[in-house]
Amino acid sequence: MRISVSNVDKRFSVRGREVNALNKASLEVRDAEFLTLLGPSGCGKSTLLQIIAGLEPATGGKVSFEGRRTASGPVTTMVWQRYALFPWRTIKHNVAFGCEMRGMPRGERMARAQHFIENVGLIGFEEAFPHELSGGMQQRVALARALCNDPEILLMDEPLAALDAQTRTVMQVELLRIWDQYKKTVVYVTHSIDEAVLLGDRIAIMSARPGRIKEVIPVTLPRPRTLDMLTTPEFHKLADHAWNSIKEEFDVAYGASKEGQSQ
Ligand SMILES: Nc1ncnc2c1ncn2[C@@H]1O[C@H](COP(=O)(O)OP(=O)(O)OP(=O)(O)O)[C@@H](O)[C@H]1O
Ligand SMILES: [Mg+2]
Repeated sequence: MRISVSNVDKRFSVRGREVNALNKASLEVRDAEFLTLLGPSGCGKSTLLQIIAGLEPATGGKVSFEGRRTASGPVTTMVWQRYALFPWRTIKHNVAFGCEMRGMPRGERMARAQHFIENVGLIGFEEAFPHELSGGMQQRVALARALCNDPEILLMDEPLAALDAQTRTVMQVELLRIWDQYKKTVVYVTHSIDEAVLLGDRIAIMSARPGRIKEVIPVTLPRPRTLDMLTTPEFHKLADHAWNSIKEEFDVAYGASKEGQSQ
């Protein structure tokens, strides 16, 4: 599913003060593309994801899907940094949640949930509760739940940020493997440049707040991606490119916050 974000503005009004979160953000996401989104903290990445998901209205501009501005929008699913699982539901009932909400018959949704539980490597944990699982396992459940919902678009907001470095690497590889199977359109927010390069077909770099898309970098690495690629000159070249682009924005963001302090 193709996504077009054109000239999207977002202003929040907080206790009489206006916060300009996005200013003319424009972005094209191709069908079945894995697009990674990098930008300094507070530049509006999560806000942009929520506008695409239809969870927040834009103040200006528009978002369309497949060139159309649909009233109901496509089926999107969010995966958050904190896994946002229901603590009182077992793993299989967490994974089946979306299908249950859509009224899928019990037998069908439980079979579907089982399929995705197997796919993310959690066989044997169907009856467990979230608190009995490690962080990495909980994030697998969140991913299985998102996929089980069969979304047209998968929006991921720093989904691996809460994990330790090793688990995170394992999950990156898992995510690549799973995405390869389902080829959903993905918009994936991360603070890790390496992750953005390793996972993405293209990397969109956002400016400091108010956020707009300042540059889109095509990732020229072949697929399937492997961890061996992390040490190749091509990988370093791409990571350097992204870092140089984002560094300017960190300077702006940091300068702005210092100004704020001196007022
Ligand atoms: N619901 C809200 N009400 C008021 N202001 C908000 C709201 N959500 C976000 N903002 C403001 O909009 C700006 C962008 O926030 P957003 O969460 O989108 O940034 P981000 O790029 O996701 O940051 P991070 O990398 O730290 O997650 C910030 O200044 C934030 O304070
Ligand atoms: Mg955020």
